[in-house]
Amino acid sequence: MEQLVQQIEAYKQEINLFDAKTPEAVEEFRIKYLGTKGLVKSVMGEMKNVPNEQKKAFGQVLNEFKLFAENKYESLKENHQPEADSHQQIDWSLPGDPIAAGTRHPLSIVRNQIVSIFKRLGFAVAEGPEIEDDWHNFGAMNLPEDHPARDMQDTFYISQNPAWLLRTHTSSVQARVMESQKPPIRVICPGRVYRNETISARAHCFFHQVEGLYIDDNVSFADLKQTLYFFVQEMFGKNVKVRFRPSYFPFTEPSAEMDISCLICGGDGCNICKHTGWVEILGSGMVHPKVLDNFGIDSNKYTGFAFGMGVERITQLKFQVNDLRLYSQNDVRFLKQFTGVI
Ligand code: DAH
Repeated sequence: MEQLVQQIEAYKQEINLFDAKTPEAVEEFRIKYLGTKGLVKSVMGEMKNVPNEQKKAFGQVLNEFKLFAENKYESLKENHQPEADSHQQIDWSLPGDPIAAGTRHPLSIVRNQIVSIFKRLGFAVAEGPEIEDDWHNFGAMNLPEDHPARDMQDTFYISQNPAWLLRTHTSSVQARVMESQKPPIRVICPGRVYRNETISARAHCFFHQVEGLYIDDNVSFADLKQTLYFFVQEMFGKNVKVRFRPSYFPFTEPSAEMDISCLICGGDGCNICKHTGWVEILGSGMVHPKVLDNFGIDSNKYTGFAFGMGVERITQLKFQVNDLRLYSQNDVRFLKQFTGVI
């Protein structure tokens, strides 16, 4: 055994001095020391000739020798990884791993389109809080406490403080704008609103509106019509027909609702337009003088128009989405259909 240990020491010296200049030399090293007929294997074969009481100690020497040779081999290999080699292993022409593209929510797509159309007409965007007080949501908009129109808007009150509520319409943002700005005012206010309604295909407890407000001297109903007419053409195309119907809102006088010819059936009559050929898309009117007075805007000098539209309704007409619940179910099969639509 003494002799074998000396022999192993000699091999280790040799290994230490071994220098490989080429990948072929590295391979030679592997064959000579670590190959199936290599020196490491052959000294291991000597184990059977070692007396039993020395086997344990010799086993250790052998293991150490094997590790020594393997480590040397690894370091020789590292020095011989030619650049060209690693390039050959990577096929640069393969397509990359796809990064799944996100999808904008259809309501965001349509809201952005609405906003961009009005921006082109010089409207600025204004926002307000979703938790409102009674004054901004109702009082200032000419719905005093006992006003019957309050019943039209089933309100969620905040239980800790019933002076607060979830805004029922974006008209509350009109109030906040008039409170802080002087005419000329030209804003649109996109936002989420809440009403205590049973959730169904046609109603939801929250939805989205875009409010518009334009106050200056000499603003007339003709300006209102022209602005909204422009909007409809930009949004739905030149062939869509528009009609105004007299209506009632406490914050406007006169008031009108605007219908467009049904995009689903082209006016022939279908479920969406309840077989009338027309679909209502917004409420509008000339700002009530009382509302202007509430904010110290001289109603003898200034006039204005306002409108409010539902983003879900416009989206329904644009993308033929017939169930309001789809918008908040987060079903990727629904959402994916809008990938790439901007
Ligand atoms: N606030 C109304 C609603 O939620 C919509 C509306 C109608 C807004 C007429 C207006 C308007 O600004 O002039 O039903």
